[in-house]
Amino acid sequence: MASTTTKASSSETKDDGVTDEAVLMVHEETEVAIEDLPGVGPATAEKLREAGFDDLLAIAVMSPSELAEQAELGEAVAGKIIAGAKKMANIGGFVSGAALLDRRREVLKLSAKVQSIDDLLGGGFETQALVEVYGEFGSGKTQIGHQLAVNCTLPTEEGGLDGDVFYIDTEDTFRPERITQMARGLGLEPEAVLGRIHVARAYNSAHQMLLVDEIKRLSRGLNVKLIIVDSLTSHFRAEYVGRGMLAERQQKLNRHLKELKQTADINNALVLVTNQVHSKPDAMWGDPTKPVGGHVLAHASTFRLYLRKAKGGRRIARLVDSPNLPDGECIYQVTEEGLRD
Ligand code: GTP
Ligand code: MG
Repeated sequence: MASTTTKASSSETKDDGVTDEAVLMVHEETEVAIEDLPGVGPATAEKLREAGFDDLLAIAVMSPSELAEQAELGEAVAGKIIAGAKKMANIGGFVSGAALLDRRREVLKLSAKVQSIDDLLGGGFETQALVEVYGEFGSGKTQIGHQLAVNCTLPTEEGGLDGDVFYIDTEDTFRPERITQMARGLGLEPEAVLGRIHVARAYNSAHQMLLVDEIKRLSRGLNVKLIIVDSLTSHFRAEYVGRGMLAERQQKLNRHLKELKQTADINNALVLVTNQVHSKPDAMWGDPTKPVGGHVLAHASTFRLYLRKAKGGRRIARLVDSPNLPDGECIYQVTEEGLRD
């Protein structure tokens, strides 16, 4: 992956700002230091780093007010820094279809290690994507999260991403014992797998959002390939109750999703979020099989998987709203060793 780094120094010399490089991606943080940005002295650089902004792309994609708030800078200064970062990271404008294709070529696929699921997804879970897994309680959302966390640590030849995982647990349902079972099920050393899965319990929605910043901060030196939020919506649902708070809740969720996606894109990683559907019909929410979060989530997610239970302990996953794959269903099982065909 390191060889695909956008060479900001070479693209800098081209005045049209568009090269054939995969200009949207900056994987390495070090080629152009943030100190090289206009208006950034050692003290400002320190503030930026403290706030988790240690590469150009992370800065370039911020809004002035957000950067000002997070890095404790003046908004005008933040604006200047962002403009500089945009120029140097070369993301400030339209890119050619060829450049986008290059970026798509970097997409990696994480195998579910279940043939039927991989087939449904055209080979596995893609990086640079946000996947929403939704379904009723007990439908197996958390099981998918655990399984993908384990699989992510596998070498690429075996369908993994040889990557580190960040797991934001909002319902206190992460179980290392379950990881151990699933790791053994794949012939992996449980300790090694657990060592690569970094788990944080989020106590409320504000904390949940802060944890994304924490991921940015901690990801240096790691090969972050999967970020899981299980569940994305439970705190938001509990805290923003009633119609009067709907708009604010959606705004917060939207921002949270954007930050997750951004963090994933910087790392060429995948985001997986879980979401419950309401089992009881409810006037306010309409269709009981529609996931919480409404339009914000529908637009933010690249893939949506709807899970449900079937007879004989089997599970059905339905692919919904994929941009480039046909909708369809597959059947699998949850066993002691993990998900199986
Ligand atoms: P909520 O978070 O409550 O909305 O549910 P969820 O969709 O996250 O469900 P979860 O992934 O927790 O699925 C729970 C189900 O997985 C259980 O009812 C079991 O059927 C299955 N399961 C969990 N652990 C095991 C296990 O060790 N062995 C087997 N065979 N099944 C398991
Ligand atoms: Mg769960």
